[in-house]
Amino acid sequence: MKELQYLFNYVEFPEGCDEIYDVAGGAGDVAIALTLKAYIERQPIKKATIVDPVSEFEKYSELIMNYMPFGKQLKEMVHFQEGVLQDLEFSQNAIVIAKHPCGDLADNLIERWLNSDSPKLVIMTCCQGKAQDRNPRYGLSADEWKKLCKMSDWTNSQDPKKKTAWHGCDDRTGYKACRIFARSKC
Ligand SMILES: C[S@@+](CC[C@H](N)C(=O)[O-])C[C@H]1O[C@@H](n2cnc3c(N)ncnc32)[C@H](O)[C@@H]1O
Repeated sequence: MKELQYLFNYVEFPEGCDEIYDVAGGAGDVAIALTLKAYIERQPIKKATIVDPVSEFEKYSELIMNYMPFGKQLKEMVHFQEGVLQDLEFSQNAIVIAKHPCGDLADNLIERWLNSDSPKLVIMTCCQGKAQDRNPRYGLSADEWKKLCKMSDWTNSQDPKKKTAWHGCDDRTGYKACRIFARSKC
């Protein structure tokens, strides 16, 4: 809940943005919360899309909206799309957000977004350690990749040494250790 609250306060809609993508969205709490924010603030958001391969989440997101203020209006704007992020195209009027895309989903999403016209991407990272046995990226060796994936999981450690170990990550991978990764295209 704290994370959702953080994103609610943190995310600002870029000028010209009228669409939200909540990728790896599960039940779409981010899409729902940000659409509500946009509605209350009279921001010009017209549509929010929750993308997840698990179709059962659609019912769950409907259920959440049934209990939300302005639920009827939210249901007109928030839609569930059963699918994977690897197939998505993001337009120039869409902000892309992912809360807890696990393993290498964040890497896949960054690649997808970089090749799109979307002006803004916000990721709250999750479980990068699960990607340690995947193919290395960013020119890293398999050993370096594995080590950095493991280290990035330490941001949740209670051990202060481990928690801050990622400060030593090199530029190519430092983002993985961040809890929030946000980029805007100029
Ligand atoms: C840790 S959950 C996060 C769900 C939600 N954003 C949240 O914070 O509660 C990761 C989600 O990614 C979805 N997922 C798995 N593979 C995916 C893919 N290739 N593309 C999009 N979503 C995927 C899963 O079904 C799961 O709902």
